Amino acid sequence: MELWASARRSKVIGVIVGLGYLVLLCTIGVESRKSSKRDCFEYEAISCRAHSASVSDFGGVGDGTTVNTQAFRAAIDHLSQFSSEGGSLLYVPPGRWLTGSFNLTSYFTLYLDKDAVLLGSQDESEYPLIEPLPSYGRGRDADGARFSSLIFGNNLTDVVITGANGTIDGQGELWWTKFRAGELNYTRPYLIEIMFSTSIQISNLTLINSPSWNVHPVYCSNVVVQGLTILAPVRSPNTDGINPDSCTNTRIQDCYIVSGDDCVAVKSGWDEYGIAFGMPTKRLVIRRLTCISPTSAVIALGSEMSGGIEDVRAEDITAINSESGVRIKTAVGRGGYVKDIYVRRMTLKTMKWVFWMTGNYGSHPDNNYDPSAIPMIQNINYRDVVAENVTMAARLEGIPGDPFTGICMSNVTIGLAQNPKKLQWNCSDVAGITSEVTPKPCDLLPDQGQGKIRACNYPEDNSPIENMEVQTCSSIRNRW
Ligand SMILES: *[C@@H]1O[C@H](CO)[C@@H](O)[C@H](O)[C@H]1NC(C)=O
Ligand SMILES: *[C@@H]1O[C@H](CO)[C@@H](O)[C@H](O)[C@H]1NC(C)=O
Ligand SMILES: *[C@@H]1O[C@H](CO)[C@@H](O)[C@H](O)[C@H]1NC(C)=O
Ligand SMILES: *[C@@H]1O[C@H](CO)[C@@H](O)[C@H](O)[C@H]1NC(C)=O
Ligand SMILES: *[C@@H]1O[C@H](CO)[C@@H](O)[C@H](O)[C@H]1NC(C)=O
Ligand SMILES: *[C@@H]1O[C@H](CO)[C@@H](O)[C@H](O)[C@H]1NC(C)=O
Ligand SMILES: *[C@@H]1O[C@H](CO)[C@@H](O)[C@H](O)[C@H]1NC(C)=O
Ligand SMILES: *[C@@H]1O[C@H](CO)[C@@H](O)[C@H](O)[C@H]1NC(C)=O
Repeated sequence: MELWASARRSKVIGVIVGLGYLVLLCTIGVESRKSSKRDCFEYEAISCRAHSASVSDFGGVGDGTTVNTQAFRAAIDHLSQFSSEGGSLLYVPPGRWLTGSFNLTSYFTLYLDKDAVLLGSQDESEYPLIEPLPSYGRGRDADGARFSSLIFGNNLTDVVITGANGTIDGQGELWWTKFRAGELNYTRPYLIEIMFSTSIQISNLTLINSPSWNVHPVYCSNVVVQGLTILAPVRSPNTDGINPDSCTNTRIQDCYIVSGDDCVAVKSGWDEYGIAFGMPTKRLVIRRLTCISPTSAVIALGSEMSGGIEDVRAEDITAINSESGVRIKTAVGRGGYVKDIYVRRMTLKTMKWVFWMTGNYGSHPDNNYDPSAIPMIQNINYRDVVAENVTMAARLEGIPGDPFTGICMSNVTIGLAQNPKKLQWNCSDVAGITSEVTPKPCDLLPDQGQGKIRACNYPEDNSPIENMEVQTCSSIRNRW
């Protein structure tokens, strides 16, 4: 919020060049220029663009039935020539724009009008096959190749995907049905996947019915994801909200997620492939997340965490009717680590478990994982947690011979459901401390004593991504 608010409201006179030759002036906020005002719009972004075009300039038709895959590909291909000339914006007008997968380019903004809906094609051939991720060694749904994501980017710099809450509808139903029936030969597409890229913004959009994960930045740095509403039926398979995966400096804030899987799932590769690739997720900030996830976690760390997960800060997290809070999932064979995790100010209502750590998650890519690759789980901090209508406070299962250590919980008040579990804390192979936690924690997390309130750690300094600012940009809806 601070960052949006502090964004410099630059009184820019945007110079817009439609298709590269039509030069137009767009003066925002000048009351006398009524026509300009009507055709211009403002948005907030990490960078503004000098050039713009509309997908309808490339033969696109937003009638819900015309396939616009070629229009999107041609538009972005054309706009890619401006990457070194101030960058470009592709405007998607009001309408229902059916499309298959298309690739983004650098110094580029995809802007959806508030009444624009991108409809993901249900035709498999509209999603080119791509290699599995190197840190996973295979697709998650099936061995071998995977369908490229609806919106896909690889090896890019400075990409913005935004809109005034425009919609991207993955039309996932058919994919879920095929997946459940075992009829897919390849891994389902995600809604948005950006790989090996830097300076990425995904904001102010509604994402619905993704075939699988919604937002997947992988091997990226400097990523901001904000103002997203992500909705999927709570029984839909693997419809995770946001999955930062082997990324450095990521900020996720002001998102509302209802999904059939984890709202946020932090990852970094799978067993021997993730260990060999060795790329952690680090310096991740999650703020003001609201989550409903009846069968999964509000924030999951893992289970794919073989490249390591470190320095995660989560604050002001609200969840309703969710299975667990910030959950650690790992297994023997995963290797890697989860360390320096800081969580504060969680408000939870109707939960199966507030705290859940799982050391025997299993789920291996193949049988070639290394049984001596033991994950290290260390320095996990939770404080200022209020929960109500909870079935069981904590289920903490480390790995025999490899305890999860440095767990700290302070100022935690858990109100129980009408028929709670008799055993509220079930702990094994974990070590740490607690202070001011009710109901009374297990003996492996001894209470530091009444009156000696010791707050668990939360870093005082800013994580680098907190300083990445957005500015107010202006662009144009239609060409004259
Ligand atoms: C998109 O990029 C990937 C590689 O990054 C490539 O394999 C694929 O062919 C591209 N798709 C199109 C439609 O150009
Ligand atoms: C990545 O992009 C840069 C600049 O556009 C290009 O020079 C390089 O060949 C690309 N690398 C790969 C692996 O595609
Ligand atoms: C965006 O649209 C969704 C779906 O209609 C709605 O629930 C949400 O409140 C909207 N967000 C904003 C900021 O207007
Ligand atoms: C999946 O693979 C099988 C065996 O190769 C083939 O018979 C089937 O047609 C394929 N299905 C699809 C949807 O491509
Ligand atoms: C984007 O959403 C944020 C809330 O997350 C809001 O503060 C901001 O005004 C929105 N920006 C635009 C350009 O709609
Ligand atoms: C408490 O949780 C149960 C499920 O465990 C749910 O059925 C019930 O509606 C919740 N009660 C309140 C007051 O939210
Ligand atoms: C305990 O947590 C609650 C809820 O976040 C907060 O309002 C309160 O200030 C905290 N108390 C202390 C002593 O930090
Ligand atoms: C406690 O957890 C252990 C595994 O860590 C499990 O075997 C046992 O059944 C659990 N006990 C209860 C009462 O849930």
